Amino acid sequence: APTAAAAGAGGVGRWWAGADLNTAGRIRFVNRLAVPPLARSRRDAAGRRVFDLRAAAGRHRFRPGRPTPTWGINGPHLAPTLRAVRGETVLIRFRNDLPETTTLHWHGMHLPAAMDGGPHQPVEPGATWSPTWTIDQPAATLWYHPHPHGRTAAHVYRGLTGVFILDEPEPPQLPHRYGIDDIPVIVRDINLTGGNRLDEGERFQAGVGIVGELVTVNGTLAPYLPVTAQRIRLRLLNASASRIYRFGFASGRPFTLVGTDGGLLPAPHGTTRVQLSPGERAEIVVDMRPDERDVLRSFPPRTGLNFWDRRLTGGDDTLDVLQLRAAPRLDPSPPIPARLAEAPRPAAPDTPPDRTFELAKYTINGKTMDMNRIDFAVAHGSTEVWEVTAIDGSPHNFHVHDVQFQVLSVGNEPPPPDLRGWKDTIHTPPNVPIRIAMRFRSHPDPAAPYMFHCHILNHEDRGLMGQFVVTPQGQPPRAAVLSSHQH
Ligand code: C2O
Ligand code: CU
Repeated sequence: APTAAAAGAGGVGRWWAGADLNTAGRIRFVNRLAVPPLARSRRDAAGRRVFDLRAAAGRHRFRPGRPTPTWGINGPHLAPTLRAVRGETVLIRFRNDLPETTTLHWHGMHLPAAMDGGPHQPVEPGATWSPTWTIDQPAATLWYHPHPHGRTAAHVYRGLTGVFILDEPEPPQLPHRYGIDDIPVIVRDINLTGGNRLDEGERFQAGVGIVGELVTVNGTLAPYLPVTAQRIRLRLLNASASRIYRFGFASGRPFTLVGTDGGLLPAPHGTTRVQLSPGERAEIVVDMRPDERDVLRSFPPRTGLNFWDRRLTGGDDTLDVLQLRAAPRLDPSPPIPARLAEAPRPAAPDTPPDRTFELAKYTINGKTMDMNRIDFAVAHGSTEVWEVTAIDGSPHNFHVHDVQFQVLSVGNEPPPPDLRGWKDTIHTPPNVPIRIAMRFRSHPDPAAPYMFHCHILNHEDRGLMGQFVVTPQGQPPRAAVLSSHQH
């Protein structure tokens, strides 16, 4: 385990109390939170918004001592924030200057399967991939990351993670000054060796993959955020390989949940906790008074058995994540509007499922991911209800590409308020059936599959994943056979 002595080399002061850096109450917040830059874009002759992205290896200073070899996009670590407005067409020119084949997947995005950046769109070292699509979904905090089959955990862990913000042409009055009162909060846990290298080893042998002792936010360890407005909007993203966070504040302060994975809630929801498993997002608005301080903290997850966290911390998996420091004078912020967005239409929680999915290590319905097997086809324009259950006693989660789904029920009960918005990823505690409904509005393409999988990255890499295609309406779904690595 990393020790203060190992990191204190170079005469920089001891700034945490031992290996348990993020254990609640023990951290000193000495580093100003980095905010990923907004990616520059330009318009091409066809009116498309064009982004240039380049992945390469670099070095990033997490803590005193040697800088850590990392991967990043347009920088040594992490990736710039992309931003586009509903209705716009984007073109992304992604160049891979890494020593390995990778992909770039747009998590939460509705888009043609060939643009999805999943395992079937590999980008070889030195190659450029240029997906283009039209943004056709509500404002949301999406994200992007590699998805090469069997290598996703390593590529994400090394630093390839960015936020993709979608806006409405006329957004509701929520804090929106990027980097000032509208802040992405990318939470990733890491382990560093004594020499400050990223430790990619699995420490707990429970099959969960990497569980980090150090919690980073936007690549910053022990971070604080200067707050200069009465209300700030935090776009929380769990970009960790395995960890589940249940966010709240050290003071018990209530906050307002305004958005989930795929968009804003119909109305703001006051709460003190929001839980995110890997891949999930939440947008929250926090009210601060002048000179106040508080700490965004992760409390022990409520659902399921976060057994790796307990083993990691000897029973206490309360972790400090980010300190907020309000200035003596705060810019006034407008009140949060009572109505935010259109709601998913309520559906009957007892609708029988069209398909069922049993998640286990490392299978779905007993099958391990096979790049050459399409598990099923759905008809273009259809709405389906899926029931997903983790059956092996271990917590998992479930992510579906291309769609945002509505949660119909959790353990046969109506979903709690924080699961009533649009979702693309959901935590599946052991033996709790979860029903979701979604509409497949993608252009039919029987040759290009979308993925569904557990977003615990080691589970996904080891095969807890499957593939579906969208076929023309009225055409009976039929199994297709793929050759791997289609371009
Ligand atoms: Cu965040 Cu299939 O991915
Ligand atoms: Cu899993």
